Amino acid sequence: MSKIIFKGDIVFTPTKDKFQVHKNSYLVVEEGKVTGIYGELKKEYKDYPLRDFTHKMIIPGFVDLHLHAPQYPNRGLGLDKELIPWLETYTFPEESKYKDKDYAKKVYSRLIKELWKVGTTRAVVFSSIHKESTKLLMDMFIESGLGAYIGKVNMDRNTTLNLMENTEKSIVETEEIILEYRDKSPLVKPIITPRFVPTCTVKLMEGLGELATTYGIPVQSHLSENTSEVKWVGELHPEFSNYASVYNEYKLFGQTNTIMAHCIYNTDEEIKLMANNGVFAAHCPYSNFNLSSGIMAVRKFLDKGVPVGLGSDISGGNSLSISNIMAATVQASKIKWLETDKALQPLSSSEAFFLGTKGGGSFFGKVGSFEEGYDFDALIVDDGNLGDIDELSLEERIQKFIYIGDDRNIIERYVHGKKVEEPK
Ligand code: GUN
Ligand code: FE
Repeated sequence: MSKIIFKGDIVFTPTKDKFQVHKNSYLVVEEGKVTGIYGELKKEYKDYPLRDFTHKMIIPGFVDLHLHAPQYPNRGLGLDKELIPWLETYTFPEESKYKDKDYAKKVYSRLIKELWKVGTTRAVVFSSIHKESTKLLMDMFIESGLGAYIGKVNMDRNTTLNLMENTEKSIVETEEIILEYRDKSPLVKPIITPRFVPTCTVKLMEGLGELATTYGIPVQSHLSENTSEVKWVGELHPEFSNYASVYNEYKLFGQTNTIMAHCIYNTDEEIKLMANNGVFAAHCPYSNFNLSSGIMAVRKFLDKGVPVGLGSDISGGNSLSISNIMAATVQASKIKWLETDKALQPLSSSEAFFLGTKGGGSFFGKVGSFEEGYDFDALIVDDGNLGDIDELSLEERIQKFIYIGDDRNIIERYVHGKKVEEPK
């Protein structure tokens, strides 16, 4: 049986309300999973390989629950518009380029390298509508050793001509990818990806819901990000009482594991449906600032029992760094509290850390924590340049890393117990 022992200053969040810390301790990994944390190394473990990271922090790898791979070249560009005109002016033209696999390869290799660099060990990713480029992206993730769900985008209405799919073909190609990739890799899996209600006909949503439930494949989409979008969905589907019910009707809302990005304008009824169906919300604060979308009431979702994780939403979002996004999550929650609703208590740093690790990680199973039985997905963090580590508590060191650390502090990354080297 393969066993490895990691020694260092261990920090994680089994619950959101506080950091659990183990200074100068030993974490035992067997067959890729955590089996225990000890202050002293038990005699029976003495003969196993020891990775000694004394004075370094060992923390769970970051989980990005929402990003668009083909939008990577657009980071920082065209953020002068709101969602719908932004999609039409900047996003759709860029996504059209992924018909060309060579172009896709160039962009996707940069993206995967950057995800590795910033410490994202698991990601849930939108590709473009293109089957071949999507398969390429999946193969590149498999090659990298990082974990991911990757979805070919489906859209057959209200988009530019060269991204408008034939409904039947969109469903058939999605099924082909599912069959080819569902058992290809333990770490990289397909996810069904209707872009959002405005770009998907009822026939398409029905077909995708059928695929999801037939094959037990998860689903990702967008929900209530922008006021014009919500209004548009109401005009397209007056037969439904709200946006979430459209997805729910077509088995795209928790009938299999589901992530909905943004969730800024949800009604209480929709939040209740998310909680009942176990639908995850991906909070993407940078994107919500950049596209003037609004601020999600994360506190309300947590209180109502909706599972929540964090997303970069590249390129609505400008940073892939989940640690930056953790800080932005706390900042956004303070503005929400201050400007909108004094009942929405701001988030603490341990809560933001939880969302970016175990919160999003639960979408993948036992991921994002170091409790017994969890996959050992981890970052080794050298925070020696961020403060006097002998004077600071571990709770203080992790906060400093979240707010002022960056990829230069991350010296090694692990997924399921295996070290992930810099992608080529
Ligand atoms: N809603 C539909 N498509 C998109 C997208 O590409 N980005 C964001 N932020 N919202 C969307
Ligand atoms: Fe998005």
